[in-house]
Amino acid sequence: MNRYLVIFLGAVATVTFAFVVLIGLPEVQLAGVPAPAGLAPYTASQAEGRALYTSLGCYYCHSQQVRTPSFGSDSARGWGRASEPEDYVYDRPHLLGTMRTGPDLMNIGVRQPSRDWHYLHLYQPRAVAPFSVMPSFRFLFVLKDQAEMGDEIVTTPPGLVPAGKVVVAGPKARALVDYLLALKRDYDPHAVAGGAP
Ligand code: HEC
Repeated sequence: MNRYLVIFLGAVATVTFAFVVLIGLPEVQLAGVPAPAGLAPYTASQAEGRALYTSLGCYYCHSQQVRTPSFGSDSARGWGRASEPEDYVYDRPHLLGTMRTGPDLMNIGVRQPSRDWHYLHLYQPRAVAPFSVMPSFRFLFVLKDQAEMGDEIVTTPPGLVPAGKVVVAGPKARALVDYLLALKRDYDPHAVAGGAP
């Protein structure tokens, strides 16, 4: 009978140890990481886009973590410099991701700065990457007979939309692309505002 107590205490000790090592220590270690001078907090629209990125499940297929060259070929693929804790100071929760069905997006704003490209790609990924398995996010756009004042028209290749129609980016598409274009980690992560790190 006494064994039950030993098993119970052993289980509690294991969970507590894992909690301290995997959650407690990193939290203490990284709590004081300063914001890099080159990284701005998200604007309202970018933050809305980030929430959409999460709710639409983009992170199921896209990571946001560039490994150091000794751990993999991420930088050689043009995904940018290795990520540092400083890069995530405004990310709560972070969107590191675990799958790479698509490319890493930590630096997509540097790699692909065209708003128009992002709109078309989200509307129909296969219009820009013929063999893409990325789903189309067409419901973020509106098909109109005529564009109105203030509309952001998506440039579509011939045959993608019925003749006489235009594709206009909806408010969610605009916010999502605002967020994607803000993903630029091309600054020095250790240069802190106001001088020395
Ligand atoms: C089922 C997996 C999957 C999901 C979900 C997904 N993607 Fe993708 N994505 C891909 C693949 C595969 C590619 C590479 C082919 C291409 O460019 O379409 C890609 C490419 C991209 C690119 C271009 C990357 C580059 O380096 O050129 C961007 C930007 C992107 N996705 C954004 C998104 C966003 C935003 C979402 C959520 C709204 C999303 N993806 C959801 C699979 C996915």
